[in-house]
Amino acid sequence: MTTRANNCRQIAERLTAPGKGILAADESISTMSSRLEGVGVAPTAENRRTYRELLATTTGLADGVSGIIFCDETLGQTFGDGRPFAEAVSELGILAGIKVDTGAKPCPGLPGETITEGLDGLPARLAHYAEIGATFAKWRAVLTIGDCTPTWGAIGANANALARYAAACQEAGLVPIVEPEVMMTGSHPITQCEQVTATVHAAVRQQLSLLNVDLAGIVLKPNMVIEGEDCPQQSTPAEVAEATVRVLRAWPADLAGVAFLSGGQAPERATANLEALQNHQTPWPLTFSFGRALVSPALAAWAGDQAHVADGQAALSVHVAANAAARRRATAQSA
Ligand code: 13P
Repeated sequence: MTTRANNCRQIAERLTAPGKGILAADESISTMSSRLEGVGVAPTAENRRTYRELLATTTGLADGVSGIIFCDETLGQTFGDGRPFAEAVSELGILAGIKVDTGAKPCPGLPGETITEGLDGLPARLAHYAEIGATFAKWRAVLTIGDCTPTWGAIGANANALARYAAACQEAGLVPIVEPEVMMTGSHPITQCEQVTATVHAAVRQQLSLLNVDLAGIVLKPNMVIEGEDCPQQSTPAEVAEATVRVLRAWPADLAGVAFLSGGQAPERATANLEALQNHQTPWPLTFSFGRALVSPALAAWAGDQAHVADGQAALSVHVAANAAARRRATAQSA
Protein backbone atom coordinates (compact mmCIF):
# COMPACT_ATOMS: atom_id res chain seq x y z
CA MET A 1 0.00 0.00 0.00
CA THR A 2 1.26 3.52 -0.79
CA THR A 3 2.01 5.98 1.98
CA ARG A 4 -0.90 8.15 0.84
CA ALA A 5 -3.33 5.23 0.93
CA ASN A 6 -2.12 4.30 4.38
CA ASN A 7 -2.42 7.91 5.49
CA CYS A 8 -6.02 8.05 4.22
CA ARG A 9 -6.89 4.93 6.23
CA GLN A 10 -5.47 6.44 9.40
CA ILE A 11 -7.27 9.76 8.93
CA ALA A 12 -10.57 7.98 8.17
CA GLU A 13 -10.17 6.02 11.38
CA ARG A 14 -9.51 9.20 13.35
CA LEU A 15 -12.56 10.87 11.83
CA THR A 16 -14.83 8.05 12.97
CA ALA A 17 -13.07 7.41 16.29
CA PRO A 18 -15.20 6.13 19.20
CA GLY A 19 -17.26 8.81 20.90
CA LYS A 20 -16.65 11.41 18.19
CA GLY A 21 -18.30 12.79 15.08
CA ILE A 22 -17.77 15.46 12.47
CA LEU A 23 -19.06 19.04 12.51
CA ALA A 24 -20.26 20.24 9.09
CA ALA A 25 -19.66 24.00 9.01
CA ASP A 26 -19.14 24.19 5.26
CA GLU A 27 -22.22 26.06 4.09
CA SER A 28 -21.51 27.84 0.82
CA ILE A 29 -21.16 31.62 0.91
CA SER A 30 -24.73 32.08 -0.32
CA THR A 31 -26.28 29.54 2.08
CA MET A 32 -24.33 30.92 5.05
CA SER A 33 -25.26 34.45 4.06
CA SER A 34 -28.96 33.67 4.04
CA ARG A 35 -28.68 31.85 7.39
CA LEU A 36 -26.94 34.91 8.87
CA GLU A 37 -29.60 37.20 7.44
CA GLY A 38 -32.20 34.88 8.95
CA VAL A 39 -30.96 35.83 12.44
CA GLY A 40 -30.46 39.49 11.55
CA VAL A 41 -26.72 39.44 10.88
CA ALA A 42 -25.19 41.20 7.87
CA PRO A 43 -23.91 38.59 5.39
CA THR A 44 -20.30 39.78 5.25
CA ALA A 45 -17.12 37.70 4.92
CA GLU A 46 -16.06 38.93 8.35
CA ASN A 47 -19.32 37.81 9.97
CA ARG A 48 -19.05 34.40 8.32
CA ARG A 49 -15.49 34.18 9.63
CA THR A 50 -16.46 35.27 13.14
CA TYR A 51 -19.25 32.70 13.27
CA ARG A 52 -16.96 29.85 12.17
CA GLU A 53 -14.33 30.89 14.71
CA LEU A 54 -17.03 30.93 17.41
CA LEU A 55 -17.94 27.33 16.53
CA ALA A 56 -14.35 26.07 16.33
CA THR A 57 -13.22 27.67 19.60
CA THR A 58 -16.02 26.19 21.68
CA THR A 59 -14.38 24.87 24.84
CA GLY A 60 -13.98 21.10 24.81
CA LEU A 61 -15.13 20.74 21.20
CA ALA A 62 -12.37 18.22 20.45
CA ASP A 63 -13.87 15.86 23.07
CA GLY A 64 -16.79 15.13 20.74
CA VAL A 65 -15.66 16.38 17.35
CA SER A 66 -12.88 14.73 15.34
CA GLY A 67 -13.06 17.02 12.33
CA ILE A 68 -14.72 20.19 11.06
CA ILE A 69 -15.68 20.64 7.40
CA PHE A 70 -15.19 24.17 6.12
CA CYS A 71 -15.82 25.80 2.76
CA ASP A 72 -13.14 27.36 0.56
CA GLU A 73 -13.76 30.85 1.92
CA THR A 74 -13.19 29.82 5.53
CA LEU A 75 -10.07 27.80 4.80
CA GLY A 76 -8.59 30.96 3.28
CA GLN A 77 -9.42 32.98 6.41
CA THR A 78 -7.69 33.28 9.76
CA PHE A 79 -8.68 33.26 13.41
CA GLY A 80 -8.75 36.68 15.04
CA ASP A 81 -5.16 36.07 16.21
CA GLY A 82 -3.95 35.64 12.62
CA ARG A 83 -3.56 31.84 12.50
CA PRO A 84 -5.09 30.23 9.39
CA PHE A 85 -8.19 28.15 10.18
CA ALA A 86 -6.68 24.76 9.29
CA GLU A 87 -3.64 25.41 11.49
CA ALA A 88 -5.69 26.77 14.38
CA VAL A 89 -8.17 23.88 14.51
CA SER A 90 -5.38 21.35 14.16
CA GLU A 91 -3.75 22.90 17.23
CA LEU A 92 -7.06 22.27 19.00
CA GLY A 93 -6.76 18.56 18.12
CA ILE A 94 -9.36 18.72 15.36
CA LEU A 95 -8.88 17.70 11.71
CA ALA A 96 -9.69 20.33 9.09
CA GLY A 97 -11.77 19.31 6.09
CA ILE A 98 -12.84 21.11 2.94
CA LYS A 99 -15.99 20.97 0.83
CA VAL A 100 -14.66 20.71 -2.73
CA ASP A 101 -17.80 20.40 -4.82
CA THR A 102 -19.09 23.61 -6.35
CA GLY A 103 -22.72 22.80 -5.78
CA ALA A 104 -25.65 20.85 -7.16
CA LYS A 105 -26.59 22.44 -10.52
CA PRO A 106 -29.51 21.75 -12.86
CA CYS A 107 -28.62 18.61 -14.80
CA PRO A 108 -28.95 19.05 -18.58
CA GLY A 109 -31.38 16.49 -19.95
CA LEU A 110 -32.97 15.79 -16.58
CA PRO A 111 -35.52 18.50 -15.78
CA GLY A 112 -35.83 19.14 -12.04
CA GLU A 113 -32.77 17.07 -11.13
CA THR A 114 -29.24 18.12 -10.29
CA ILE A 115 -25.68 17.06 -10.94
CA THR A 116 -23.04 18.14 -8.45
CA GLU A 117 -20.20 19.99 -10.16
CA GLY A 118 -16.59 20.67 -9.25
CA LEU A 119 -14.48 18.08 -11.06
CA ASP A 120 -12.73 20.61 -13.33
CA GLY A 121 -9.31 21.44 -11.93
CA LEU A 122 -9.99 19.28 -8.88
CA PRO A 123 -6.51 17.68 -8.53
CA ALA A 124 -4.83 21.10 -8.39
CA ARG A 125 -7.33 22.36 -5.82
CA LEU A 126 -6.88 19.24 -3.70
CA ALA A 127 -3.11 19.67 -3.76
CA HIS A 128 -3.55 23.26 -2.59
CA TYR A 129 -5.93 22.29 0.22
CA ALA A 130 -3.58 19.54 1.38
CA GLU A 131 -0.74 22.05 1.43
CA ILE A 132 -2.66 24.47 3.65
CA GLY A 133 -3.52 21.72 6.13
CA ALA A 134 -6.75 20.02 5.07
CA THR A 135 -6.74 16.26 5.67
CA PHE A 136 -10.14 15.35 4.32
CA ALA A 137 -12.71 16.58 1.81
CA LYS A 138 -16.44 16.46 1.15
CA TRP A 139 -18.64 16.19 -1.94
CA ARG A 140 -22.43 16.13 -1.73
CA ALA A 141 -24.68 14.59 -4.36
CA VAL A 142 -28.37 15.45 -4.13
CA LEU A 143 -31.17 13.06 -5.11
CA THR A 144 -34.80 14.03 -4.68
CA ILE A 145 -37.74 11.68 -4.35
CA GLY A 146 -40.65 12.70 -6.58
CA ASP A 147 -43.24 11.06 -8.82
CA CYS A 148 -40.59 10.06 -11.36
CA THR A 149 -37.35 10.88 -9.55
CA PRO A 150 -34.61 10.20 -8.90
CA THR A 151 -34.06 8.93 -12.44
CA TRP A 152 -31.41 6.39 -13.37
CA GLY A 153 -29.72 9.24 -15.21
CA ALA A 154 -29.35 11.37 -12.09
CA ILE A 155 -28.35 8.43 -9.93
CA GLY A 156 -25.70 7.28 -12.40
CA ALA A 157 -24.27 10.72 -13.18
CA ASN A 158 -23.99 11.67 -9.50
CA ALA A 159 -22.51 8.32 -8.50
CA ASN A 160 -19.87 8.66 -11.20
CA ALA A 161 -18.98 12.20 -10.10
CA LEU A 162 -18.74 11.06 -6.46
CA ALA A 163 -16.37 8.26 -7.45
CA ARG A 164 -14.19 10.50 -9.62
CA TYR A 165 -13.94 12.93 -6.72
CA ALA A 166 -13.15 10.15 -4.25
CA ALA A 167 -10.41 8.70 -6.45
CA ALA A 168 -8.86 12.16 -6.92
CA CYS A 169 -8.91 12.78 -3.17
CA GLN A 170 -7.14 9.53 -2.37
CA GLU A 171 -4.51 10.27 -5.00
CA ALA A 172 -3.94 13.62 -3.27
CA GLY A 173 -3.77 11.95 0.16
CA LEU A 174 -7.08 13.43 1.38
CA VAL A 175 -9.88 11.29 2.81
CA PRO A 176 -13.03 11.73 0.74
CA ILE A 177 -16.31 12.04 2.58
CA VAL A 178 -18.71 10.52 0.07
CA GLU A 179 -22.15 12.06 0.53
CA PRO A 180 -25.06 10.77 -1.53
CA GLU A 181 -28.02 12.60 0.03
CA VAL A 182 -31.55 11.46 -0.61
CA MET A 183 -33.50 14.50 0.45
CA MET A 184 -36.27 14.58 3.06
CA THR A 185 -38.41 16.90 0.94
CA GLY A 186 -41.72 15.33 -0.02
CA SER A 187 -44.46 13.21 1.52
CA HIS A 188 -43.06 9.78 0.69
CA PRO A 189 -43.16 6.98 3.28
CA ILE A 190 -40.02 5.58 4.91
CA THR A 191 -40.25 2.47 2.71
CA GLN A 192 -39.74 4.58 -0.41
CA CYS A 193 -36.73 6.33 1.13
CA GLU A 194 -35.29 2.91 1.94
CA GLN A 195 -35.73 1.65 -1.60
CA VAL A 196 -34.30 4.81 -3.20
CA THR A 197 -31.38 5.04 -0.76
CA ALA A 198 -30.49 1.39 -1.41
CA THR A 199 -30.54 1.98 -5.18
CA VAL A 200 -28.40 5.11 -4.89
CA HIS A 201 -25.88 3.34 -2.64
CA ALA A 202 -25.62 0.41 -5.06
CA ALA A 203 -24.73 2.81 -7.88
CA VAL A 204 -22.19 4.63 -5.69
CA ARG A 205 -20.58 1.34 -4.63
CA GLN A 206 -20.30 0.22 -8.24
CA GLN A 207 -18.67 3.47 -9.36
CA LEU A 208 -16.28 3.55 -6.39
CA SER A 209 -15.23 0.02 -7.26
CA LEU A 210 -14.75 0.80 -10.96
CA LEU A 211 -12.42 3.66 -10.02
CA ASN A 212 -10.50 1.56 -7.48
CA VAL A 213 -11.40 3.69 -4.49
CA ASP A 214 -10.16 2.16 -1.23
CA LEU A 215 -13.25 1.88 1.00
CA ALA A 216 -11.04 1.73 4.09
CA GLY A 217 -9.92 5.25 3.23
CA ILE A 218 -13.33 6.92 2.79
CA VAL A 219 -16.12 7.99 5.11
CA LEU A 220 -19.63 7.44 3.79
CA LYS A 221 -22.01 10.28 4.65
CA PRO A 222 -25.55 9.12 3.92
CA ASN A 223 -28.99 10.31 4.89
CA MET A 224 -30.70 8.30 7.56
CA VAL A 225 -33.57 6.32 6.07
CA ILE A 226 -36.57 8.36 7.09
CA GLU A 227 -39.99 9.40 5.80
CA GLY A 228 -40.45 12.63 3.81
CA GLU A 229 -40.93 15.75 5.90
CA ASP A 230 -44.58 16.06 4.73
CA CYS A 231 -45.44 12.43 5.39
CA PRO A 232 -48.22 12.29 8.02
CA GLN A 233 -46.74 9.24 9.72
CA GLN A 234 -43.48 9.85 11.60
CA SER A 235 -41.22 6.84 12.09
CA THR A 236 -39.82 5.99 15.50
CA PRO A 237 -36.06 6.02 16.12
CA ALA A 238 -36.12 2.20 16.19
CA GLU A 239 -37.80 2.11 12.76
CA VAL A 240 -35.36 4.65 11.30
CA ALA A 241 -32.42 2.70 12.68
CA GLU A 242 -33.66 -0.65 11.38
CA ALA A 243 -34.35 0.65 7.87
CA THR A 244 -31.06 2.53 7.75
CA VAL A 245 -28.98 -0.44 8.85
CA ARG A 246 -30.81 -2.72 6.38
CA VAL A 247 -29.62 -0.44 3.57
CA LEU A 248 -26.09 -0.09 4.95
CA ARG A 249 -25.59 -3.85 5.30
CA ALA A 250 -24.79 -3.96 1.57
CA TRP A 251 -21.50 -2.11 2.27
CA PRO A 252 -18.42 -4.28 2.76
CA ALA A 253 -16.83 -4.56 6.17
CA ASP A 254 -13.71 -2.69 5.09
CA LEU A 255 -15.59 0.62 4.75
CA ALA A 256 -13.90 2.91 7.31
CA GLY A 257 -17.06 4.38 8.74
CA VAL A 258 -20.46 5.97 8.27
CA ALA A 259 -21.16 9.56 9.40
CA PHE A 260 -24.76 10.64 8.89
CA LEU A 261 -25.99 14.03 7.74
CA SER A 262 -28.95 15.46 9.63
CA GLY A 263 -30.85 16.53 6.52
CA GLY A 264 -33.24 18.97 8.17
CA GLN A 265 -34.31 16.75 11.08
CA ALA A 266 -34.86 18.57 14.37
CA PRO A 267 -31.65 18.30 16.43
CA GLU A 268 -33.30 16.14 19.11
CA ARG A 269 -34.70 13.73 16.55
CA ALA A 270 -31.37 13.36 14.76
CA THR A 271 -29.73 12.54 18.10
CA ALA A 272 -32.44 10.05 19.08
CA ASN A 273 -32.06 8.32 15.72
CA LEU A 274 -28.28 8.21 16.05
CA GLU A 275 -28.69 6.66 19.47
CA ALA A 276 -31.11 4.02 18.17
CA LEU A 277 -28.65 3.17 15.40
CA GLN A 278 -26.09 2.22 18.04
CA ASN A 279 -28.29 -0.71 19.09
CA HIS A 280 -27.23 -2.49 15.89
CA GLN A 281 -23.96 -4.34 15.63
CA THR A 282 -22.25 -3.25 12.42
CA PRO A 283 -18.75 -3.79 11.03
CA TRP A 284 -18.24 -0.03 10.65
CA PRO A 285 -18.73 2.77 13.20
CA LEU A 286 -21.94 4.77 12.85
CA THR A 287 -21.45 8.39 13.78
CA PHE A 288 -22.61 11.92 12.96
CA SER A 289 -21.49 14.55 10.49
CA PHE A 290 -24.30 16.95 11.24
CA GLY A 291 -24.62 20.49 10.02
CA ARG A 292 -27.93 22.07 11.00
CA ALA A 293 -28.64 19.65 13.88
CA LEU A 294 -25.49 20.96 15.58
CA VAL A 295 -25.16 24.57 14.49
CA SER A 296 -28.71 25.92 14.13
CA PRO A 297 -29.23 26.35 17.90
CA ALA A 298 -25.78 27.96 18.19
CA LEU A 299 -26.46 30.42 15.39
CA ALA A 300 -29.80 31.40 16.93
CA ALA A 301 -28.28 31.85 20.40
CA TRP A 302 -25.43 34.03 19.10
CA ALA A 303 -27.34 36.01 16.46
CA GLY A 304 -24.31 38.17 15.75
CA ASP A 305 -24.11 39.65 19.25
CA GLN A 306 -20.62 39.70 20.76
CA ALA A 307 -22.26 39.51 24.19
CA HIS A 308 -23.82 36.16 23.23
CA VAL A 309 -20.75 34.32 21.94
CA ALA A 310 -20.72 32.15 25.06
CA ASP A 311 -24.43 31.34 24.58
CA GLY A 312 -23.80 30.22 21.01
CA GLN A 313 -20.90 28.06 22.11
CA ALA A 314 -22.92 26.59 24.97
CA ALA A 315 -25.69 25.63 22.52
CA LEU A 316 -23.18 23.90 20.27
CA SER A 317 -21.61 22.11 23.25
CA VAL A 318 -24.95 20.71 24.37
CA HIS A 319 -25.69 19.16 20.98
CA VAL A 320 -22.16 17.87 20.37
CA ALA A 321 -22.16 16.30 23.83
CA ALA A 322 -25.55 14.63 23.27
CA ASN A 323 -24.44 13.05 19.98
CA ALA A 324 -21.02 12.06 21.29
CA ALA A 325 -22.74 10.48 24.30
CA ALA A 326 -25.00 8.47 21.98
CA ARG A 327 -21.88 7.12 20.32
CA ARG A 328 -20.13 6.40 23.59
CA ARG A 329 -23.05 4.23 24.65
CA ALA A 330 -22.37 2.10 21.58
CA THR A 331 -18.70 1.88 22.42
CA ALA A 332 -19.60 0.79 25.93
CA GLN A 333 -22.08 -1.81 24.62
CA SER A 334 -19.60 -3.45 22.28
CA ALA A 335 -16.72 -3.39 24.78
P1 13P B 1 -27.07 18.77 7.50
O1 13P B 1 -26.68 17.93 8.68
O2 13P B 1 -27.60 20.12 7.87
O3 13P B 1 -27.93 18.03 6.53
O4 13P B 1 -25.73 19.12 6.73
C1 13P B 1 -24.78 18.16 6.57
C2 13P B 1 -24.01 18.46 5.37
O5 13P B 1 -22.81 18.51 5.41
C3 13P B 1 -24.74 18.68 4.11
O6 13P B 1 -23.85 18.59 3.03
